[in-house]
Amino acid sequence: MIEQEEHRSGSDRKDQLLSSMEECRSDTLQLLELVPEEFLKRRVHSFYSPIGWHFGHVGRTEEFWVMSEALHRPLLDDRLTFLFADLPDNPKDNRVHIPDRDGIIDYLARTRVRVIDALARTNLETPNPLTRDGYAWEFALQHEYQHQETILEMLQLIQKELADSASDLPTWQAGSDGGWVEISGGAFEIGSSNSHYYDNEKDPHRVSLPRFRLAVNPVTAFEWTTFIGDGGYTRPELWSEAGWAWRERETIAHPEYWVRADEGWSIYSPYGTRSIDPNEPAGSLSWFEADAFARWAGKRLPSEAEWEVARKLGGDVHSPASISRTRGYPLPMTDVAADAVGLRGMAGSLWQWTASPFLPYPGFVPYPYDGYSWDHMEGEHFVCRGGSWATAKPIRRPSFRNWYLPTYRQGFLGMRLAESM
Ligand code: AVJ
Ligand code: FE
Repeated sequence: MIEQEEHRSGSDRKDQLLSSMEECRSDTLQLLELVPEEFLKRRVHSFYSPIGWHFGHVGRTEEFWVMSEALHRPLLDDRLTFLFADLPDNPKDNRVHIPDRDGIIDYLARTRVRVIDALARTNLETPNPLTRDGYAWEFALQHEYQHQETILEMLQLIQKELADSASDLPTWQAGSDGGWVEISGGAFEIGSSNSHYYDNEKDPHRVSLPRFRLAVNPVTAFEWTTFIGDGGYTRPELWSEAGWAWRERETIAHPEYWVRADEGWSIYSPYGTRSIDPNEPAGSLSWFEADAFARWAGKRLPSEAEWEVARKLGGDVHSPASISRTRGYPLPMTDVAADAVGLRGMAGSLWQWTASPFLPYPGFVPYPYDGYSWDHMEGEHFVCRGGSWATAKPIRRPSFRNWYLPTYRQGFLGMRLAESM
């Protein structure tokens, strides 16, 4: 990922795009191999399309933005272009009619050939904003990274369906309270003007923040069990009104992927059930749960501006995943290095919920289409930051904004506490 705007020769840029696209696609195809046949075209959760759809959708998005939108060329297959689109007239229930595994692989291969061929033939030094510097290819690449994470999330949901009750007996010790990092107040820049980044990261602008503190570590599994043990899920006064109504309706008593074991807890991961390490970050939290935890702890969630300021001060220290990005789980915080200001897990541990609704920055212009960011900026979604072990590194950049509804309990969503001074 290019941090600074650079003027490189068109062919360097093409080589760089090509190698990133190939590397990314090879991970995607490895993920496809992990999907059990009987789950490929089945919806396992009301929030999600069938897992197989996500694979075709990355090919469709790539071909659509490069061939149709940037280059005004016809598309390979109108039926599949429609079936793999994320559009209101193709609702998730309709997406069960996708091709089987070989058909998906074939569609990915055939669209990819066209898109690569177009890259070779297109002059990237043009005024067309979709071709300039390879924007459409870059957009499709980052889009594919994001769907890889969704695919991993769905592999977790599939494990939840496959698993019988957990049998591990994890040992529990006290989680480590990592303490706090204080950030002095001042005027800071958030956002980015990098032309490769998403519309919602622009424009860069100054924010002025009073002094605040962030917890060194994300909230750990051990801390979460303390919350559970202290009646965190049974005391309405800890919850927002909407959060409590949701908790009651769904009868929620622990994070989504957690299973009570004889001693301690286990968790569904994309590769099966494993025991939870007390020092690992607590995940699969909805915003409502994160908000209740913060109230219970007498603290609050950071704003996204506070989070980004701290991340920019701390630098790019990525927590390693246990095995690899497509095969792993977050490491215990005791095994994660601190950044320049002493924070751990700001990139590559779990996403962290913020107190901020997903709203446009000053000067925001939707690009390349309203459906990427703008349609979700109605004030109902909350921003999460940082990226998880399952997030590709380019997406873990300091200005990157992710967003979900407050009821969303994605496995890679955690939290970090903040407090005002
Ligand atoms: C930003 C992760 C909420 O998965 O719906 C993928 C990203 N946008 N395809 C999503 C996205 C279009 C988006 N999130
Ligand atoms: Fe998408």
